[in-house]
Amino acid sequence: MMPTVAVCVYCSQKIEEKEKSVDVPHLGGVAHLACAQSPAHVVTTNAYGGIIGQSRQLREVLAKIDKVAGGDANVCIMGESGTGKELIARAIHQSSPRRDRPLVTLDCTAIPEGLMESQLFGHRRGSFTGAVEHRNGVFALAHTGTLFIDEISELPLPLQAKLLRVIQAHEFVKVGGSKLIRTDIRLITASNKDLREVVVDGTFRADLYYRIAVVMIQLPALRERRDDIPHLVEHFLHKFSTVHRRPVPTVTPQALELLTSYSWPGNVRQLENCIEQAVVLADGATIDVDVLSLDEHEPKKAAGVTPSAPAGLTLREVEQEHILQTLSAVDGSRTRAARLLGISLRCLQYKLKSYAEEGGEPIEAFGGARTKYTLGV
Ligand SMILES: Nc1ncnc2c1ncn2[C@@H]1O[C@H](COP(=O)(O)OP(=O)(O)OP(=O)(O)O)[C@@H](O)[C@H]1O
Ligand SMILES: [Mg+2]
Repeated sequence: MMPTVAVCVYCSQKIEEKEKSVDVPHLGGVAHLACAQSPAHVVTTNAYGGIIGQSRQLREVLAKIDKVAGGDANVCIMGESGTGKELIARAIHQSSPRRDRPLVTLDCTAIPEGLMESQLFGHRRGSFTGAVEHRNGVFALAHTGTLFIDEISELPLPLQAKLLRVIQAHEFVKVGGSKLIRTDIRLITASNKDLREVVVDGTFRADLYYRIAVVMIQLPALRERRDDIPHLVEHFLHKFSTVHRRPVPTVTPQALELLTSYSWPGNVRQLENCIEQAVVLADGATIDVDVLSLDEHEPKKAAGVTPSAPAGLTLREVEQEHILQTLSAVDGSRTRAARLLGISLRCLQYKLKSYAEEGGEPIEAFGGARTKYTLGV
């Protein structure tokens, strides 16, 4: 079955530039922890409605969005999994003159390699087995709008060359076609790998990197901007209390202390999941440490997962080994493994699927005394 391409049109405008102060009766003591200079309230909004936080690092990111939104420069967003790359991409589109045109997203980890070219450029009927009808790719679907290519480091090298040509010439040819088709798109890309490193590794073209990263936005990990945590907690408390039709619970000072000091390897996504779980599980009107299910030792335990791959393995085999060891360390929980590995669950699932398709039995090969995890995709 063909993977679907998410086509989303966002019409909401950048909200008027003003700061709004809100009282925070739900965060016991949070005002003192979060805003020492401003203990009476916590500022939770900025010029971009859905992007919560007031840290210096986040303000710098938002200032950059302000500068790039009005133009057509290609923007590349880098940051660990769950830091908000997609949220930022949407904010750029929503603030741009293209906001009433389509925003089309292509996630390179969600598409089998053999279908990637067709997903990008479309195909003509009969151009390959299974191409039973003409189909448009994302370049056609995003015409006059914004194309967001997520996890671009996963794009195979031959397609990187084709993508570079399209970016430079603003025209492409469908798979199995011969007609040149014009395209007018604004390109936003994202990666949780550092693209400069994959360029050095030789798996990403340097010329493509320079083309897509005209403006580079580096999203800091949540542990590097702890000032944002109380604001995010407040935001998610309200969001999930509404979703689950519960009264907004109060967070005890001890729970807030833990939330602000935790390392958040899965970044804002992990915090969001944690607060949703707490809202659902909270017994009564209070969230205390016991309902947070945060194990501060977990990341350290994972850091102790030392790859023991024998010399002579390829980089891909070492990656596979490390992923499987991490899965073993968390008893096969893909969600926890993805969080610890700093990749999205989707990305982990894609990698496991591709290992299984290659028919490897990596567990025995890399054996050892640890709990073993077998591929079962
Ligand atoms: N500053 C923020 N304010 C509010 N919500 C946020 C913020 N940053 C991230 N989120 C929320 O966290 C979740 C993860 O964000 P997003 O999907 O944009 O991250 P990502 O960097 O694209 O992750 P991945 O690399 O795993 O794809 C989303 O639900 C998003 O709405
Ligand atoms: Mg993403």
